[in-house]
Amino acid sequence: MLSEPQDALLPVYAQMPIRPVSGRGAWLVDEDGAEWLDAYGGHAVAATGHSHPRVVEAVAAQARQLMFYSTAVPHPLRSRLARELVARCPDPLGRVFFCNSGAEANENALHLARKATGRTGVASVTGGWHGRTVATLACCDGPSYEAGALRAGMALSSRVAFNDIGSLDATLDDRIAALLVEPVQGMAGARDCSMEFLTAARRICAERGIALVFDEVQCGVGRSGAFTAAERYGVVPDALTLAKGLGSGYPIGAVVAGPMLADGVGVGDLGSTFGGGPVACAAALATLEVITDEDLVANAIRVGAHLAVGARALGARKVWGHGLLLGLDFSRPARELQRALFTHRILTGTASDPEILRLMPPLTLSIQEADVLLAGLREVLAA
Ligand SMILES: Cc1ncc(COP(=O)(O)O)c(C=O)c1O
Repeated sequence: MLSEPQDALLPVYAQMPIRPVSGRGAWLVDEDGAEWLDAYGGHAVAATGHSHPRVVEAVAAQARQLMFYSTAVPHPLRSRLARELVARCPDPLGRVFFCNSGAEANENALHLARKATGRTGVASVTGGWHGRTVATLACCDGPSYEAGALRAGMALSSRVAFNDIGSLDATLDDRIAALLVEPVQGMAGARDCSMEFLTAARRICAERGIALVFDEVQCGVGRSGAFTAAERYGVVPDALTLAKGLGSGYPIGAVVAGPMLADGVGVGDLGSTFGGGPVACAAALATLEVITDEDLVANAIRVGAHLAVGARALGARKVWGHGLLLGLDFSRPARELQRALFTHRILTGTASDPEILRLMPPLTLSIQEADVLLAGLREVLAA
């Protein structure tokens, strides 16, 4: 007998103690009408804030007009979105493939890299996290993820030690098709790669014919100091992947590829029934417009810096990340801080590092809202 509707679901997700019924900006409203500040952002998804009216209207208008038609026909929104993404990504990233999620985007980028290089191996970075398909699990750092890939007969990726240039040099050999790296590692706690590490990765990959792929599923779309982390670092990969915030909650993923991976791609090389569907493209186009019109990248930099200063003043020994993807290390179990913040109706994230509290709020977060978060943190740290 099922006591809750929830019980019919496979129990694969730890559950937060909130039942949101509506949301606006950085706030959620629960079943009792109480407001919660969302510094978790629905896992870095609510880029423009919850249910931004322009995104909602774009989705509704497109759904009324034509909910879906297949990629077997061109659609103006799909073409326009591809152009808008290319305009926001560094040259020469000039071709886009749309899918529905971050894992799919990474999986497809790896397909392109294997096809372009004729090699099978992949390298990833310790602490990295890339998704739940078999090929992406093989690149995730952590025994349970690796076990999933191994059970499926997938070879694990070669591992480069985080921010270790010697390890890049030693690991990237001529069996490797791609180095898959998050410029800011989300799951690890917003651990940002050093400029030197990414610059060396770029140089070594170019010298050895390896595709450099940035997984920007979490750190991209304006979250970490520029529209892409590639731009923030001034390092141009051969492809980057986007998802999460791209549709402000409407599922969409994208691979944006440069000539190394895009040249030579033809009909049938990749595909997805729903990828680049009209409603998803409408959501993503509206998201891009809101990010531009409301200057959300600048806001993320400004409010992120304010949070970092505030967290240090509260005793954080290290603040990882950039913009509004931050990892606060208070040398305390982050799960306890997260739980204590729940009692203040503030949502935050944790990380694979048990002492890092992860913040990935909507990019609309204001200084005043950041102060609500800092005040909550001050109270739970003092308790
Ligand atoms: C960096 C990174 N890559 C890939 C993924 C997988 O994305 P999705 O859950 O949309 O498949 C995630 C999800 O958390 C992520 O943070």
